[in-house]
Amino acid sequence: MGATATAAAQSQTGETLRKAGDDKNLLIGTAVSYAQLQDPGFTRVLADQAGVVVSENDMKWGPLRPTATTFDFKRADALVAFATAHGEKIRGHNLCWHEMLPSWFKTEANSGNAADLLKHHIETVVARYAGKIQSWDVVNEAINVKDGRPDGLRNSPWLQLIGPNYIEIAFRTARAADPNALLTYNDYDLAQDSPAHEAKRKAVLALLSSLKDKDVPVQALGIQSHLAAAANGSYSWTGYQTFVRDIEALGLQIFITELDVDDRALPGDISRRDAGVAKLYHSYLTTALQHPSVKAVLTWGLTDKGTWLTHFLPRADGLPQRPLPLDSDLSPTPVFRAMLDCIHAAPRR
Ligand code: G3I
Repeated sequence: MGATATAAAQSQTGETLRKAGDDKNLLIGTAVSYAQLQDPGFTRVLADQAGVVVSENDMKWGPLRPTATTFDFKRADALVAFATAHGEKIRGHNLCWHEMLPSWFKTEANSGNAADLLKHHIETVVARYAGKIQSWDVVNEAINVKDGRPDGLRNSPWLQLIGPNYIEIAFRTARAADPNALLTYNDYDLAQDSPAHEAKRKAVLALLSSLKDKDVPVQALGIQSHLAAAANGSYSWTGYQTFVRDIEALGLQIFITELDVDDRALPGDISRRDAGVAKLYHSYLTTALQHPSVKAVLTWGLTDKGTWLTHFLPRADGLPQRPLPLDSDLSPTPVFRAMLDCIHAAPRR
């Protein structure tokens, strides 16, 4: 991929997502993998299109922590170096999550040392990138209503080993290590109108409210926005609108952190499928970007090649999913146009 695809990944007027976002003071960007950073064709497009980047996996505990006493920053450093060289902002993802923990965690972490392990990890990682990170996902996916607790907290290893105040510990430790990064709570299933999403919104709101009451330094909510296309193409955002206003009332910013669309309910035919995916992007971003508290939109990948959805939520027909603004040849899909149109229509931040 070279200049041709770079040119293709622009609107007819040569406009990029990054530039359209800049004009509205809105951060537009994407998750990136270390493997993608080795591909010069991809990195040219990435530099053009993304005003903000986030590592898809390389700042998680698993990749960063080969052992309980060591860190491996090679892949995370590569993204920070790339973004810095291209004037892109960086989101850090993530400091505390129940998934992608290193294999040693199960045998070496216990209730006697878990709080110290968590603090030491956050102090080390956040201090290393202090001054370079726009926002950190400090705690990721701490709510899981299905686990049945009255507070909605997920029965995660962190909860089991430390108790509910692990969240507060994580935020306070991150703040001490970098006074300037915006500290974010990040979660999924918060966007669509359904009873499950409504229950999750309620629990996340209660969590954030209680953190604010305790002066825990949380400053933003990351609404991941892994959306699912509906066969009938009909969408409503009633619960979301109320939720966004409630979050604003807590004084928090909002970042759309992991936007993509699961297209399993759509037909295999590429033009009908792409139109269906773009329709959902358009509907969602039109609603979300009306709110000036929404300061950033990151898709979970820039190109369909390598999207997690193809492996984690495979289509019944075996075709790869097409959830992102560029296809696997780095040519723009209708999602690209839908994103540009929604950014143009958004009020300036
Ligand atoms: O790196 C190994 C590789 O060495 C090995 O050969 C291969 C074999 O399966 O696995 C590779 O690791 C995989 C890694 O992605 C990199 O591709 C892991 O098994 C796989 O579990 C991991 O999945 C990631 C998942 O988070 C779990 O960490 C996905 O790429 C990533 O897109 C996904 O992202 C999450 C966000 O962090 C949080 N929100 C939901 C989102 C989607 O699930």
